Amino acid sequence: MIGFFGRLARPFLHALDPEDAHRLAVRMLKFAPLPAAAPDDKRLAVRAFGLNFPNPIGMAAGFDKNAEVPDALFRLGFGFVEVGTITPLPQPGNARPRVFRLDADQGVINRLGFNSEGAAAVLRRLAARAPAGGVVGINVGANKDAPDRIADYVELIERFASVSSYVAVNISSPNTPGLRNMQQAAVLDDLLARVIDARERVAPQAGAIPVLLKIAPDLTLPDLDDVVGIARSRRIDGMIVGNTTVSRPPRLRDAEKAKEQGGLSGRPLFSLSNRILAETYVRVEGVFPLIGAGGIDSGAGALAKIRAGASLIQLYSGLVFGGLGLIADIKTALLATLERDRKASLADYVGADAASVTAEHWPA
Ligand SMILES: Cc1cc2nc3c(=O)[nH]c(=O)nc-3n(C[C@H](O)[C@H](O)[C@H](O)COP(=O)(O)O)c2cc1C
Repeated sequence: MIGFFGRLARPFLHALDPEDAHRLAVRMLKFAPLPAAAPDDKRLAVRAFGLNFPNPIGMAAGFDKNAEVPDALFRLGFGFVEVGTITPLPQPGNARPRVFRLDADQGVINRLGFNSEGAAAVLRRLAARAPAGGVVGINVGANKDAPDRIADYVELIERFASVSSYVAVNISSPNTPGLRNMQQAAVLDDLLARVIDARERVAPQAGAIPVLLKIAPDLTLPDLDDVVGIARSRRIDGMIVGNTTVSRPPRLRDAEKAKEQGGLSGRPLFSLSNRILAETYVRVEGVFPLIGAGGIDSGAGALAKIRAGASLIQLYSGLVFGGLGLIADIKTALLATLERDRKASLADYVGADAASVTAEHWPA
């Protein structure tokens, strides 16, 4: 079945408009009789944020926005799944077309703008599957025209704490006007204070859900100083580094599509996101773990992210071009590395290259 998705379905999906292809892929996952994944080698297990992950590979936010297929994604071999971004109220997002494949660059540009079925529908789905277990994080955002955006995050944490493993506070989507301004120091401090307060308030009934912050790879280093300082002082549990970039690397070959507005992901994002990950790692000083995302499309890419500072990784665009075999390829590569070095876990590699990555020329 994985072979079917990997080899046969991919050329077919690539012939479609990217958003139609995505919808079809989710539908296929919903109805395909996938067998359970083989148990993971124990050396791939990761403990982070108080949670146990059977392997470090996560489905990044944006693929399963409405929590339709988390259990199918586990059967494909993911160690964790982040659903969302969800918003409190349903909203349609931006006008189509709003997803573009840069085939020559193996990149994607999207300006979906938080299309979401809204909290009530997603809550029902997550509650129904909760007994199945597995690490399912919920990525939360604000409605486009919310009068008080922070109140949207607070509401979602309160409503979802009992049905998800962690919450990712997404203030880094480029497609909701002004959202990224929430990374500014004063706003971020207020946001995290209220978010952590909400987490504590519901903890007696729902458990103390870990709170992660998902940041943009476009932060300047002085901004990153502030963001990490506030994240540490507000005692959040981790960060996801990071979201798509509004920058356009100069060497993009698909020059026409590169002009589309939106966030760029996939291979062209790898260097920038790896640099920001390493910069974040050196600032966090081991106080909390990081999830690395951006352009992972091979075992080597996954290991590079871990060596730059990621305890866990997430991917999305790499699947569009590499297919589902990528998950097994990454596991094989990580195990081969552990075997070669006679190591019992990936923990020894986390951040091993952070200092050298931060000493490189700034990625173009
Ligand atoms: C089509 C698409 C939709 C996305 N939607 C979301 C989203 O709703 N929320 C979010 O936090 N990130 C979203 N992302 C960003 C991914 O979660 C990830 O951070 C980014 O794409 C970098 O990883 P990648 O290069 O492996 O795709 C989206 C990415 C893509 C390509």
